Amino acid sequence: MKFVGSLFVVMTAVVVVLSVYSTPNEALAGYSPVASTDDAAPVEESMHEFMEYVFQPTYLRLKASMAAAPADNKGWKAVKSDALILAESCNLLFARKPDEHGEDWTSHAMASKTHGAELYKAAKEKNFEAATSAYKAMLNNCNACHKQFEDGKHILQP
Ligand code: HEC
Repeated sequence: MKFVGSLFVVMTAVVVVLSVYSTPNEALAGYSPVASTDDAAPVEESMHEFMEYVFQPTYLRLKASMAAAPADNKGWKAVKSDALILAESCNLLFARKPDEHGEDWTSHAMASKTHGAELYKAAKEKNFEAATSAYKAMLNNCNACHKQFEDGKHILQP
């Protein structure tokens, strides 16, 4: 009886697995990269508005939060939040690369994201020294893109 029961469980598992793999398109649909569908199309097409409403206010808040070591959880939470918003927003820059010098664009965005992620991590650990150096490194890379693609306008200070 015990053997029959186990056999039933195994058979059921086989049927479930087969039914998933026998309809590959439907089964895989949910796992295809989001960026390859229109679902990830930008809400705001203009790069100017995108920087002005997503990056600028976040940067200004972060600058105030990073002026001195946060005194409490609330202060660190503000840094974590803005660091994560900037790092994740850098992901949205990849789809906006210009026709010329696209590889440079991508590497500036990648570097900004990497240091933004370090800032986020340092804020989680409440390590102000590490946070400060990640913050400055991030801004250097934001600025590197502004220098190359914006003729040196918008050079951001820590
Ligand atoms: C891959 C290139 C690129 C990266 C990386 C980048 N930016 Fe920008 N940024 C731009 C461009 C292009 C503009 C100018 C947009 C315009 O006015 O047309 C701009 C403009 C700005 C402005 C001025 C907005 C305004 O309304 O005057 C701010 C502030 C800004 N960026 C913040 C940031 C911050 C903070 C980061 C890093 C976390 C960053 N940017 C990373 C390309 C980039």
